[in-house]
Amino acid sequence: MFKIQTLNNISVAGLERLPRDRYEVASEIANPDAILVRSAKMHELPIAPSVKAIGRAGAGTNNVPVAAMTGRGVAVFNAPGANANAVKELVIAGMLIAARNIAQAWQFSRSLTGDDAAISQAVESGKKQFGGFELPGRTLGVIGLGAIGVKVANAARALGMKVIGYDPTITVRRAWQLESDVQAALSIDDLLARSDFVTFHVPLTDATRHMINAERIQTLPKNAVLLNFSREGILDDAAVVAALDQGHLYAYCCDFPSNLLKDHPRVVTLPHLGASTREAEDNCAIMVADQIREYLESGNVTNA
Ligand code: MLT
Repeated sequence: MFKIQTLNNISVAGLERLPRDRYEVASEIANPDAILVRSAKMHELPIAPSVKAIGRAGAGTNNVPVAAMTGRGVAVFNAPGANANAVKELVIAGMLIAARNIAQAWQFSRSLTGDDAAISQAVESGKKQFGGFELPGRTLGVIGLGAIGVKVANAARALGMKVIGYDPTITVRRAWQLESDVQAALSIDDLLARSDFVTFHVPLTDATRHMINAERIQTLPKNAVLLNFSREGILDDAAVVAALDQGHLYAYCCDFPSNLLKDHPRVVTLPHLGASTREAEDNCAIMVADQIREYLESGNVTNA
């Protein structure tokens, strides 16, 4: 019998891949063979010496002490691509939220009181305050052309946007089926100089931390919109706030809560919702459960 510890709620669709006659699955279990985790910060938790594999039900692995675990001979699996559609949909929503001032307009609408005449007057004022702009013809820069970045690029093309991609580690026309008319940027600065919107789909590493700083923000055209549905820290958020206050940037939409950002009128923050759809949670859980099962039963590594 293999013992699997779950550190977060893992979708039933994934747990069903671990047959009950061979697997005992629980949040508290002695001497587990493997751990399934979503967002628990494992650096802060004791990890039993019996653990042979860890499955992270998501794309990023920065909540797992990967180097320490692999140094101990523990295999670490993740679920690249399994939640890409969910993240893509929220990034597209983020562009629309920013371009049409939806969050600000919604707050305004909720605050309205008074009789029909007062409301009619407020509607006119809202139309003036919250008028926006459309996406076709605008340029989206996509930094990071893995599964998510490519899906975002293709969806933006379908909306009539021009798309420029940049990825320091892979060639642009790779197997994720990037649309042929996505242009390749020569460098991050080249991409920034040509983009009305920029979206980031890279992991947080020493190389990507503060990849966008005060100096780089000035490379962007005035009124650009930044979208960070990856990880906090890839952009220097203090520099982003300064550029918003100076009127150089139009808006910032990010998928993490932040005391620095939450009250800014040109920022929309979300509580890391990119992968939070039923479909994505099932896909991620299935992918890592299959990998853990394959590894424990046959020693095969089907994702590295
Ligand atoms: C990811 O890395 O794919 C996300 O952080 C997934 C999640 O929200 O759990």
